Amino acid sequence: MRKLDSDRLVVASHNAGKIREIRDLIEPFGFKVVTAGELGLEEPEETGTTFEENAAIKALTAARAASLPALSDDSGIMVDALDGQPGVYTADWAETGSGRDFNMAMQKVEDLLIEKGAREPEARTARFVSTLCLAWPDGHVEYFRGEVEGTLVWPPRGEKGFGYDPVFLPEGRQQTFGEMSAEEKHGWKPGDGEALSHRARAFKRFAETGLAARTGA
Ligand code: IMP
Repeated sequence: MRKLDSDRLVVASHNAGKIREIRDLIEPFGFKVVTAGELGLEEPEETGTTFEENAAIKALTAARAASLPALSDDSGIMVDALDGQPGVYTADWAETGSGRDFNMAMQKVEDLLIEKGAREPEARTARFVSTLCLAWPDGHVEYFRGEVEGTLVWPPRGEKGFGYDPVFLPEGRQQTFGEMSAEEKHGWKPGDGEALSHRARAFKRFAETGLAARTGA
């Protein structure tokens, strides 16, 4: 892993929910975080067919435009009964033409599950995936992936979080991501055991290699 010795880092995302979580995870390490939006950077088109490809498009575009290392997240939910859909197209399923509607997207997943007769929790398994990409302006990239297993509940529960959080019940828990505090969903710092959310798990891998090298921790 290449050493990350810049003290400024671009968070290459325009998604407010993700930016909040990445900030929570990274700021304790002492980076000055600036977002792609704050720098006036355009949101690139995600033309890849894997989480890695899309994460690299976002991080490399931002790193080159800002001449700084940039960290992106490409993530999504993979529903087993739907052969892994919506996967890399998770955000697209919420597209209305004039914005994103996640209630509509969750309803779409639910309708497809019901069509398949998937009513019991065993038939409604899913996982959230997050791939973080750290990119440098010269084109060097590193990837860190995290996943969390769970089941999809209906109706949606909880107003916290974002995206598909209200329907995702992580394995072994009683609360959906939408019902959890930020700390419960993605709280993680060095020395803690396993993190819960896919993004925090990916970040843990990142922290254990790159950031630890920078801070000497
Ligand atoms: P993308 O990575 O920008 O392609 O978008 C991924 C989409 O997956 C987001 O728009 C969210 O809808 C969904 N997603 C990713 N991570 C989470 C999460 O932690 N909670 C809820 N939804 C998520």
